[in-house]
Amino acid sequence: MPPKFLAEALASIRQSEHPDLLVGFNKADDAGVYRIGPDMALVQSVDFFPPIVDDPYQFGQITAANSVSDIYAMGGKPLTALNIVCFPLDKFPPETLTQIIDGAQSKLKEAGVTVVGGHSIKDKEIKFGLSITGLVNPDKMLTNSGAKAGDKLFLTKPLGTGIITTAIKQHKADEALTKLVIETMSSLNKTACELMLKHNADSATDITGFGLLGHAYEMAAGSGVTIRIFSDKVPLLPQAKELASEGILTGGAAANREYLEDKISISDNLDSNLEHILFDPQTSGGLLISVPAGSAESLSNALKQAGLCHEIIGEVTNFEDSSVIVL
Ligand code: CO
Repeated sequence: MPPKFLAEALASIRQSEHPDLLVGFNKADDAGVYRIGPDMALVQSVDFFPPIVDDPYQFGQITAANSVSDIYAMGGKPLTALNIVCFPLDKFPPETLTQIIDGAQSKLKEAGVTVVGGHSIKDKEIKFGLSITGLVNPDKMLTNSGAKAGDKLFLTKPLGTGIITTAIKQHKADEALTKLVIETMSSLNKTACELMLKHNADSATDITGFGLLGHAYEMAAGSGVTIRIFSDKVPLLPQAKELASEGILTGGAAANREYLEDKISISDNLDSNLEHILFDPQTSGGLLISVPAGSAESLSNALKQAGLCHEIIGEVTNFEDSSVIVL
């Protein structure tokens, strides 16, 4: 789901065709997948964006965690990374860039990813990101279109990073909250990926710019099912609701709401601040995992043990009227 202004331009581009192209960009999945052997495929993704926090090292960490997340969302193992750098040398000292890249390296090391190169250009604004390549067994990979009726849904990180990073920019978030949201965004989805594979997940995606409801919609539509979200079970970062109630809202959430309005159905009783958070664009959000009901308890226990969010936040049914129903 590209931004609206790009969707039109991209709609006319023909997808590459090749018998080994298993997942291409027409699938709206987290990463592309290309078979290189009977039980091996490359899984590749790219992402870059302007700083979302002031500290360059932390920005690098968050960007790296966000970039490898697309590989984890497909059940892949990330292996190599290329840095993508746009940098204004007239506005910032070179050390700022060193710190960004050092921050990214620290997270990549934790993920077991090796940096093999990169490319940098001069630009008016800082932008940084990474292209990640990983490996996945095509028979075991998870896409965002495999959810089955009867499945239970998990979300492994709390929501609210869009609202809270906006509050930080407006100096409305205290130090403890700032620290917590940075920790959340820079934590890897590595363990969540390992656990979903171990506990027979049917489908997964990571929650990023389209918010929980946007990514849930893509999963539901791609799978031909209805996803019911139990809004009172969705994990939230502390103060996210309060900050939403103070009117700290993101443009991204408004765009997500506009795109989804006629595609999903929301209970009339839903708290409007909570509703806003469900549309809130996330940076480096958790994995949304769809798992057979029989595996839900064991996955929940394993997530809990790993210190990850572990409540069932929804369920999958046969398609009924709307792709996503928020209760
Ligand atoms: Co993704």
